[in-house]
Amino acid sequence: MRRKLVVGNWKMYGRLASNRVLLEGILTGVRELHGADYAVCVPYPYLAQAQSLLQGSNVAWGAQNVNQHEEGAFTGAVAPGMLTDFGCSYVIIGHSERRGLFHESNEIVDAKFIATLKAGMKPVFCVGETLAERESGITEQVVATQLKSVLSYAGVQALSNAVIAYEPVWAIGTGRTATPDQAQAVHAYIRGCVAQHDSQIAQSLCILYGGSVKANNAAELFAMPDIDGGLIGGASLVADDFLAICRAGVRT
Ligand code: PGA
Repeated sequence: MRRKLVVGNWKMYGRLASNRVLLEGILTGVRELHGADYAVCVPYPYLAQAQSLLQGSNVAWGAQNVNQHEEGAFTGAVAPGMLTDFGCSYVIIGHSERRGLFHESNEIVDAKFIATLKAGMKPVFCVGETLAERESGITEQVVATQLKSVLSYAGVQALSNAVIAYEPVWAIGTGRTATPDQAQAVHAYIRGCVAQHDSQIAQSLCILYGGSVKANNAAELFAMPDIDGGLIGGASLVADDFLAICRAGVRT
């Protein structure tokens, strides 16, 4: 049985004072939830705050991006070792906002994936199609290309220490969630692609769904056989909403 995982992606939201309220609220509610794993991926400046409030709890923390180099003259960039200095367990890699708004190619995303693993953290590797791609019937092709790229670069073994997040771009921040059946179909496809390389790794691989997961739709999504939890944007910024999604992860 795979354990469910619920990861909050705060994006570029939060301030010290509101983060404290949010994290303390999450901690209070999540303390009794032992059947699943939880994490929040916060903006870089708040990693120290997340570490000091969350260490010793059952909520892990991580970042939303990382640079692929160990160090160097890369103004404004953050190295993997800087994240491990603050106890990060997870790094979101290849989010569609990074791929789209910041022009991260498959090559860059793959290098970041490797750099994250090398530093001992788990990449949450995001794949997903745009609305135009879905409407032209090439969802599987798009996801396969993103997956193949990282598989050929890192090898299937690397996936035993990684998480995949299927996030249809048209569902992110739009309130338009993929139906459980739509999401399940792509999750099963992803697991099938990995199984062609290694069936054991495919079976134990954690595949999250992301894209407008809310308190009122999480349970039916998480009940699908190949959906192992969620990557949560907007709803991770409100403690009660995030907690309701965490509870849905335990129930299914
Ligand atoms: P959303 O974001 O839950 O606000 O749609 C998900 C994500 O971008 O990871």
